[in-house]
Amino acid sequence: MLTIAVFGSGRGSNFHAILSAMQQGTIPGARIALVVSNNSAAGILDVARAGGIPAVHCSRPQFPTDESYAAHLLHLLHGHGVDLIALAGYMKRVPPPVVAAFRNRIVNIHPALLPGFGGPGMYGMHVHEAVIAAGATRSGASVHVVDEEYDRGPVLLQREVPVDPGETPATLAAKVLRVEHELYPEVIRRIAGGSLKLPAERGEPVTDRG
Ligand code: GRF
Repeated sequence: MLTIAVFGSGRGSNFHAILSAMQQGTIPGARIALVVSNNSAAGILDVARAGGIPAVHCSRPQFPTDESYAAHLLHLLHGHGVDLIALAGYMKRVPPPVVAAFRNRIVNIHPALLPGFGGPGMYGMHVHEAVIAAGATRSGASVHVVDEEYDRGPVLLQREVPVDPGETPATLAAKVLRVEHELYPEVIRRIAGGSLKLPAERGEPVTDRG
């Protein structure tokens, strides 16, 4: 059983899409054990609680040091037996010790066709504004492996949408979000089923079980 933690900062619609697919039985072999948000008011925590999934507010300002913050996150993740972290609208950088411990076991969804339109500052409506300003005729969603840099790790799967004449950032965002809600459950289904392989190198052996 692939045990997943979802990290998010906002409304949680991608998490909801994954959870719904699991509840419908279309992702056998995977379960969501934990949802973590840096934002205590995030909708994603409400979605988790409504689904009976442990939902935790955990953010850097709650801790005296970077080290104690990362150690707490690792304690939570290991305590719930997490194998894979899925970022879904998570607006913070994952602390380096967590990236190292979960090397090639963290994935993210980005609302554009990476490697284009990613990196620092490319989040939310900024992405769609940049796509339209560049005159691109297609956009889409990408799920990729997370490393220490924003939106840089290898792309696992993408889904495209056309950028139509007269498209606005808002219409493009809505169109891309619809395919995100198909793409992310599909990626989780393929990882759990073994047909989509994550890079082989794993994180450091777990030493901090709290
Ligand atoms: C999505 O567009 C995702 O691609 C981006 O942040 C947004 C999160 O939306 N990383 P939601 O919280 O899943 O509704």
